[in-house]
Amino acid sequence: MMERFQVFLLLSLITSGAHSASFTLINRCPYTVWPGILSGGGSRPTPSTGYVLGSGASTVLSIHAPWSGRFWGRTQCTNNGGRLVVCTTGDCASGQVGCNGAGAIPPATLAEFTLGGYGGKDYYDISLVDGFNLPISITPRGRPGCGVSSCSRNVNSVCPGQLSVRNGSGTVACKSACLAFHSPQYCCTGSYGQPSTCPPTNFSRVFKNACPQAYSYAYDDKTSTFTCGTGADYTITFCP
Ligand SMILES: *[C@@H]1O[C@H](CO)[C@@H](O)[C@H](O)[C@H]1NC(C)=O
Ligand SMILES: *[C@@H]1O[C@H](CO)[C@@H](O)[C@H](O)[C@H]1NC(C)=O
Repeated sequence: MMERFQVFLLLSLITSGAHSASFTLINRCPYTVWPGILSGGGSRPTPSTGYVLGSGASTVLSIHAPWSGRFWGRTQCTNNGGRLVVCTTGDCASGQVGCNGAGAIPPATLAEFTLGGYGGKDYYDISLVDGFNLPISITPRGRPGCGVSSCSRNVNSVCPGQLSVRNGSGTVACKSACLAFHSPQYCCTGSYGQPSTCPPTNFSRVFKNACPQAYSYAYDDKTSTFTCGTGADYTITFCP
């Protein structure tokens, strides 16, 4: 009886998504990227919360479902004797390679995941709600019928001047209109606090036109969320 119960428990753990997903992070940018990872509230921390990937480099980590959290890339970080001091974009202000529970300071392109979520499925998206700093794609592996979500355009090159974050002559990141203007219309707050009262704006359309598969603002249409059956592995590519 006891043994049968244990087998049942084990089976329910397996079918409820208590598997581990393998994440491969690849840097195809012509510059070094410092990926950061933030686990959501209630999710177990990942084995590491930050990496350094030279151009062309990759790393693999495994994450136990259920889990939710986000990945992003930091750029132009200054390294001082092995310690990170500061990154020009996507900084998490930890002063280290690991972000240790700190998130990206916007603007930053985010790859967001819920593993083993509603219905035991995985949900993932690319979000430009906090702005853009570098192109990212999410490629599921090992399960048929799961879509690739990609924001491969360099939004910095089409960023309106009012949203642009510059370093020298170049735009290194593009703020969301919410971040730049803090207004209810762009942040979908106050009387704009519902999908029906917060339509796209001329600013959010700049992001949507460049990266149609990504969330361009808080109440963007739900086509930007992708779903995959449990048990998939994922590749996150910087500059796909
Ligand atoms: C601007 O870019 C240069 C070259 O990539 C970098 O060394 C520097 O730290 C950046 N400036 C700021 C303010 O982050
Ligand atoms: C959007 O509209 C505002 C107000 O009319 C204007 O100031 C801004 O330049 C426009 N932005 C873009 C990207 O067209």
